[in-house]
Amino acid sequence: MKDAAPQAIYLADYTPPAHLVDHVSLTFRLDPEKTRVLSRISFRPNPEGPGGPLRLDGEDLTLISARIDGAEVTPQVTPRGLTMEVPDAPFTWEAEVEIAPINNTALEGLYMSNGMYCTQCEAEGFRKITYYPDRPDVMATFDVRIESDEKIKLSNGNPGQSGDGFAEWHDPWPKPAYLFALVAGDLINHPDTFTTKSGKDVELNIWVRPGDEHKCAFGMEALKKSMKWDEDVYGREYDLDIFNIVAVDDFNMGAMENKGLNIFNSSAVLASPETSTDMNFERIEAIIAHEYFHNWTGNRITCRDWFQLCLKEGLTVFRDAQFTADMRSEPVKRIDDVITLRARQFREDNGPLAHPVRPASFVEINNFYTATVYEKGAELIGMLKTLVGDEAYYKALDLYFERHDGDAATIEDWLKVFEDTTGRDLAQFKRWYEDAGTPRVAVSEDYADGTYTLTFEQHTPPTPGQDDKPPRVIPIAVGLLSPNGDEVQPTKVLEMTEARQSFTFDNLSSKPIPSILRGFSAPVIIERDTSNDERAFLLAHDTDPFNKWEAGRDLARNALVAMIRDGAAPDEAYIDAVHTVARDDSLDPAFRALALGLPSQDDLAQTLFDTGTTPDPQAIWDAIETLRHARAERMQDTATRLYAQFQVSEPYRPDAEQSGARSLANAALSLINRLDGGAQAQKQFDTADNMTQQLAAFSCLLQAGKGDAATRAFYDQWQNDRLVIDKWFMMQVVHAAPEDAAATAARLTEHPDFTMKNPNRFRATLGALTMNAAGFHHVSGAGYDRLADWLIRLDPLNPQTTARMCSAFETWRRYDDTRQGLIKSQLDRILATPNLSPDTTEMVTRIRG
Ligand code: ARG
Ligand code: ZN
Repeated sequence: MKDAAPQAIYLADYTPPAHLVDHVSLTFRLDPEKTRVLSRISFRPNPEGPGGPLRLDGEDLTLISARIDGAEVTPQVTPRGLTMEVPDAPFTWEAEVEIAPINNTALEGLYMSNGMYCTQCEAEGFRKITYYPDRPDVMATFDVRIESDEKIKLSNGNPGQSGDGFAEWHDPWPKPAYLFALVAGDLINHPDTFTTKSGKDVELNIWVRPGDEHKCAFGMEALKKSMKWDEDVYGREYDLDIFNIVAVDDFNMGAMENKGLNIFNSSAVLASPETSTDMNFERIEAIIAHEYFHNWTGNRITCRDWFQLCLKEGLTVFRDAQFTADMRSEPVKRIDDVITLRARQFREDNGPLAHPVRPASFVEINNFYTATVYEKGAELIGMLKTLVGDEAYYKALDLYFERHDGDAATIEDWLKVFEDTTGRDLAQFKRWYEDAGTPRVAVSEDYADGTYTLTFEQHTPPTPGQDDKPPRVIPIAVGLLSPNGDEVQPTKVLEMTEARQSFTFDNLSSKPIPSILRGFSAPVIIERDTSNDERAFLLAHDTDPFNKWEAGRDLARNALVAMIRDGAAPDEAYIDAVHTVARDDSLDPAFRALALGLPSQDDLAQTLFDTGTTPDPQAIWDAIETLRHARAERMQDTATRLYAQFQVSEPYRPDAEQSGARSLANAALSLINRLDGGAQAQKQFDTADNMTQQLAAFSCLLQAGKGDAATRAFYDQWQNDRLVIDKWFMMQVVHAAPEDAAATAARLTEHPDFTMKNPNRFRATLGALTMNAAGFHHVSGAGYDRLADWLIRLDPLNPQTTARMCSAFETWRRYDDTRQGLIKSQLDRILATPNLSPDTTEMVTRIRG
């Protein structure tokens, strides 16, 4: 049992640990109900610490015995840990505790998934395994002995002795406890090897449950590419004899970078053409890279405390994005990332959950694995690289690795390596880490006598606890085009440091058309009064692929806003412009597919709200449907042509080229689908030999209201594949009509394959309800009510996943009084639940405001 009211903790209160650990030996006697964990830990007083007793974290543990230097002791035990007076000299702590992995539904600590033992310790799960100073600034080498009859027994580091019923592992690299991992079960490996640049052979394995062996090859290739890329680009070599990845079905997040033993949600590693979409393949490649890259940015250099989480996450997301851009298409990756950033991080920054990239306080750290820490954290690295230049960036990184290898570091340490290599003062840049909120940058322009002036004005709206925010340094990449479409000023980075600042360009023969914030050079919102003609011009002529796409996106958004707010007809100029792009065979098919995308319902709701209109989710949905239909009618011939032209006849490859072709063909299919009542989609569904084609057809059929037969067929075909059945749950809810969405989700929770113990399945059903924006926000309130019901049910089992999913309610202040009232009563109902977890309590309290 946890204490009733957990307190917020503050970055400002950081104190070094009283005791440091030199070495840890752990023995696990595995048993589902009664696992015994024996620990032997060498402690010494920290010369820089505050002194005082030994304090060890521990939760849900039964202490069997404890000894100091061999003598039995009786520590003071509370629900959160223990304290013990100890000698002011090095000593050995030994303890035996009992835990019950089978009862661990929170999936934090040691738990069981489909009969297999596995662990998740980040952020504070190790304290559910044994008593320990469970904080990242305590680093130690670990020896682990696993005693069990399970066939495969894995832990961190290099393998030691093994024999009948036991296996030993030794990790020579000091690490914090959050990087500890253990796996035991009936597993099969997909083996391979990698030779590092200095000639060391590394044994690689992906471990899966029997039956999943055929889904490992792609992940293995991704791992080898990642290892090579980190050597080539960052000079980082792998540092153990073996690297293991394990696929686990029940997992709260995507994956975890435990030293030498990465543990993955099976959805983030298992792939085959028949069962995975092109998007799945790309995501898997990125997550494998992400976790592998953590070996240096996270493990060799870790975080001093959890406030510094962005130190490893922002940097590692940035690195995995660079990797994907190198492996695939740089512009497509950038556009995809900005879509996600705006959908998740801008949304977070605009609401009650807004927090700095480096938060100053938290109650439950698991609630801060957010888009702000990860994705905005990565944007900050990108801005830093833009500001100092590529060469200085890699120089600073070399210094970072050299200076801080083996450290638990801070954002101050990180910025210091850039200051020391470049001589720059980064005090103003640091505000990006400390101030929440998305800056708005208003742009005005002036042209006279050959001189063009751009004036920018920045301001950041208040966020919880932060009213006034001083100006930040903003790198604004700008290019200029002449009215005939030529580029007269190639991309130039303007460094904005003041609240209001002007930049001039001379010797121009006519007033240019500016292309502002190229490549999305800073995570800001540009506010600029401009015409749709100018946007259409940029969509046609901009040399920067991001801004070219952005111009089309702005046109679409304006068209939709005019329809929703003023009852306007679909904008013919927008349809013409996007039609021209779609038809242009000189453009990358993947880019053309992206240009055919529309802003999300959520994006439109925020846009309306920001411009003083209360968003009506049903009206937004109707406008999108109407615009899609109008486009389909106008683009009929093009759609038919593109659909035929971009069918892939070669054997399936999940690479950028083929997936680009499929995405354009499937965009064409969804146009065709508006007019043919699902005929073409049914053909594609019946003949598809890969999941990308099958799922695209399935969603078209559902969308056309013709999905009944496909729904049955899809289930019959895939009922034994959990990951594909997740898609089956999700598709039905996401594509339900607004008035049916809540009922569809509710009906699916009655399906025998629904279980709330599996986070993937829970998200595929209830998370999908929140993705169906018009359905979730249906004025009946049924969507809110269903979600709250299930969050209340999940909370006692899995607080972490429950708390994360509460963010579906974070935008509630945008809506009308009726909806606000409905949501507020659900938030109050959740908060009134007896024994609500601290995780969910913190989230709902912050959202409610
Ligand atoms: N460090 C992991 C990653 O970046 C995320 C693990 C977070 N887990 C958690 N329970 N908060 O991939
Ligand atoms: Zn990470």
